[in-house]
Amino acid sequence: MSKNIILITGASRGIGYATARYLAGQKHQVLATARSEESLEKLKSSHSRRIDYVACDLLDAGSIQKIIDYVRDQNVVIQALIHNAGGLINKPFRELTDQDWNTMWNMNVLSAVRLLRALLPFFTKQSHIVTIGSMGGFQGSSKFAGLSAYSTSKGALSIWSECMAAELKDQGISVNCLSLGAVQTEMFQSAFPGVKAPVKPDEMAGFIGEFALNGHTFMNGKVLPVTLGDP
Ligand SMILES: NC(=O)c1ccc[n+]([C@@H]2O[C@H](COP(=O)([O-])OP(=O)(O)OC[C@H]3O[C@@H](n4cnc5c(N)ncnc54)[C@H](OP(=O)(O)O)[C@@H]3O)[C@@H](O)[C@H]2O)c1
Repeated sequence: MSKNIILITGASRGIGYATARYLAGQKHQVLATARSEESLEKLKSSHSRRIDYVACDLLDAGSIQKIIDYVRDQNVVIQALIHNAGGLINKPFRELTDQDWNTMWNMNVLSAVRLLRALLPFFTKQSHIVTIGSMGGFQGSSKFAGLSAYSTSKGALSIWSECMAAELKDQGISVNCLSLGAVQTEMFQSAFPGVKAPVKPDEMAGFIGEFALNGHTFMNGKVLPVTLGDP
């Protein structure tokens, strides 16, 4: 018999790490991914019966195949995918190179596209895909200098999520995007050096975890702002 899992990308630190721990603590089976095997091993050791991991680089198609192989070989069904992995480049627009733009769009948009395309056979009716966007990519929100490549890639991710909801609706698969405000992580520090965020990763993890489990009962194809204010 197949086993339900919740797949979380970007689970080696920050929000993804905390969300994996939260869901494992609620007795769900979690498959965690990121590049850092050492951090994933530490995560697994905190809930060894509930968390498994695949170390992979989402920018590398060959590496993504390791996730597909795991899911197929273990005969699992993906109850929820929390696509949380992301990267941020903080540079004034005039200094951003084509390579910077490619990196942002590859990491924050195309990695989600490639992963979902490859994993589609492993979802079921009632599966929920949650993409982690940003208030920087939320239309009408405050914008900040240095974050144009990051924020536009997150905006694209949110629109893509709406498109996927329309496309996957007939299969019973829901897709929603959470546009997060400030959470105290390494990424937040690189975007806003010296600023203190009002939310800790553990606090955000509970919200994301519960939303991944239940949010699709009430909504589909939505982009939700999850923020206490600027930034
Ligand atoms: N913190 C905030 O204030 C905030 C606000 C809005 C939105 N967000 C979004 O929330 C998500 C999590 O952010 P965070 O603050 O927790 O960031 P973080 O601490 O920098 O963590 C990013 C995660 O993404 C993984 N990752 C990065 N590049 C990867 C790659 N090429 N392949 C596989 N995994 C990769 C990292 O793991 P490895 O380095 O081990 O690969 C890490 O686990 C991101 O999508 C971010 O844009 C955060």
